[in-house]
Amino acid sequence: MQHNSRWHVLDSADQVALAAYHQILEAAEQAIKERGSFKLVLAGGGTPEKVYRLLVKSDADWANWFVYYGDERCLPVDHADRNSLMATRVFLQNVAIPTAHIFTMPAELGPELAAEEYKQIVATALPFDMVLLGMGEDGHTASLFPGHVHLEDDLTHAVYNSPKPPPERVSMSAKALSDTHQLIFLITGINKQGAVNEWRSGKDLPIATINPKNPIDIYIDKDAYNS
Ligand code: 6PG
Repeated sequence: MQHNSRWHVLDSADQVALAAYHQILEAAEQAIKERGSFKLVLAGGGTPEKVYRLLVKSDADWANWFVYYGDERCLPVDHADRNSLMATRVFLQNVAIPTAHIFTMPAELGPELAAEEYKQIVATALPFDMVLLGMGEDGHTASLFPGHVHLEDDLTHAVYNSPKPPPERVSMSAKALSDTHQLIFLITGINKQGAVNEWRSGKDLPIATINPKNPIDIYIDKDAYNS
């Protein structure tokens, strides 16, 4: 794990979401002021939903936001388990980010084609301004799973045999996810405690392969952080 990670241990998942929300808005304001746009990578899974609901209430400069996904499940576009479906329903369809600025992973094409297509989008976008990521109970992040072997110079990966359903996915690589000005991990729930402890003790987990040049911010509740 990065030695200069910043751990923000909070009492509840709601407080985790609120703290991350504030940092995201500050990062957006700074990026738009300095670089004219805010390139944000959304996290998958359920944890970020609280953050997305808070963002909808803000009056951000949405016209200059550009949204990408760290990973996606290879399911039909309207499948309830798609990361893009939750992000769209909760967040993206409720704010004025131009549709042309939202880069959904074409995961319905299958792992190989989706990874090939999205690689170009990532190459054009890098570096990101902020990457949001969750963590699974086995220390995975995005769709980078323990025991899976990928070419580290790739920007996207086709993922098969995912231990977390569905088995086929597409993921940004550790290299792409690390090429960002800021990175936030959102980790809540007692079921994450074991992986957090392993990560903190230096175990070589997928989450430990994410190493931006700047410090990482880890927003974590007390249940997940076994102090
Ligand atoms: C996915 C996610 C995955 C997720 C973690 C945590 O597509 O499943 O990208 O990496 O972030 O598994 O998921 P929860 O937030 O639901 O615990």
